[in-house]
Amino acid sequence: MAVNLGMIGLGWFSNLIARSVLEKGAGRMGVTAACDVNLEKLRDFKDRFHVKKTYNNPDDLISDENVDIVIIATPPYLHSSLAKKALLAGKHVFLEKPGALRPEELDELIEIAREKNLKTTIDYVMRRNPLYLIMKKICDAKPFGLLERADLENYAHDDHMPPQHWFWDYSKSGGIWVEHGVHFFDLINWLIGPPREVKAVNVKRSGENLTDRVMGFALHEDDALVTYYHGFTKPEPFEKTTFYFTFERAYVEVYGWIPVRVVIDALTTSEAEEFMKGQVMEEARKFLPGIDVELSVEKIAEYEEGCDVFSGRGKRFKASSRTRFEYTIKQDRWEVYRACVMRAISDLVDAVEGVKTSPTVTLIDARRSLEIACKMEGQSLQY
Ligand SMILES: NC(=O)c1ccc[n+]([C@@H]2O[C@H](COP(=O)([O-])OP(=O)(O)OC[C@H]3O[C@@H](n4cnc5c(N)ncnc54)[C@H](O)[C@@H]3O)[C@@H](O)[C@H]2O)c1
Repeated sequence: MAVNLGMIGLGWFSNLIARSVLEKGAGRMGVTAACDVNLEKLRDFKDRFHVKKTYNNPDDLISDENVDIVIIATPPYLHSSLAKKALLAGKHVFLEKPGALRPEELDELIEIAREKNLKTTIDYVMRRNPLYLIMKKICDAKPFGLLERADLENYAHDDHMPPQHWFWDYSKSGGIWVEHGVHFFDLINWLIGPPREVKAVNVKRSGENLTDRVMGFALHEDDALVTYYHGFTKPEPFEKTTFYFTFERAYVEVYGWIPVRVVIDALTTSEAEEFMKGQVMEEARKFLPGIDVELSVEKIAEYEEGCDVFSGRGKRFKASSRTRFEYTIKQDRWEVYRACVMRAISDLVDAVEGVKTSPTVTLIDARRSLEIACKMEGQSLQY
């Protein structure tokens, strides 16, 4: 029988979620109930997605006995209280990020879900992207050595967010680190583990009481240094995100907030090259249903393996070539975005149906990244 989804908060992102379910979930799941306090949004959503039951009070959706999973996509300050009510009513929960404004709120949800044997997840879309799986393989198998540095440049758009938007209100969003930064902390936690120390600087828009730029530093195991910049400063068509990763023997550039291209410039051995072309490609191509990855490989220079020895930071290593690997997703980023969201929901449905014991991404992951976000916020110098 199809799993019934009930959605609370029918704004921009819920429309993307519902479209993903409509396109790819048919037969297995469907949005059967929806709730928003804004009646116009409720009507629009009902018409667009042909939802059977609509509510303007979340309590009514939560007590709808036909709803199996509650999807919460309201502004963040409501996430944990709504999730708690849903869990106490015996519903499984799909939480939009950050899931709470404080880590302790997530502890409570984790505990209730455990006691009641209910399944929960958080929507960290980058975890579902095949290009970040490639990064995970590089960080784990270390074909190019240790990570020395990562640097995020995230120029996001603010043109749909006037000063009165909830995003700028700390009591509703938790600020940029909590509302948005959690995505990237979770990604780095997954790739290389949590930081030992963090520091940050938050900067207000000139003449206004509104923090629109933040910059943070994190020091990780093996002394990997990660920096994060988020600026909500651009018009939507001009937003740009690049994540640079520097390993001992490779420079990697990941393009886009929903990446569709990764370029690697590496000093490589033939064994590392085989790994990148073979196992890594094979797993990346299977990772996200409906999304395929292509690879082009170009030799920039060739060396005699075993004879040409290089050194950096006092370490000596051999290489047979300097090679450029370019991994590309052909589908457009919106299709990739929806596929990532769909993967997150079907992962939760798998757990609900007993196909697996737990979704891949859990509220423990949510707690870890929220804790880092709160530390960044708490330690930040304010300008
Ligand atoms: N995972 C991702 O990639 C991603 C991307 C964008 C947004 N998000 C998250 O999704 C959530 C929503 O963001 P958005 O951009 O869609 O915001 P939005 O403002 O467009 O939508 C929020 C909706 O919640 C409704 N709402 C407010 N209070 C409510 C209540 N008490 N009960 C029911 N509905 C209520 C509002 O009327 C609105 O329709 C946020 O947590 C955001 O961080 C996640």
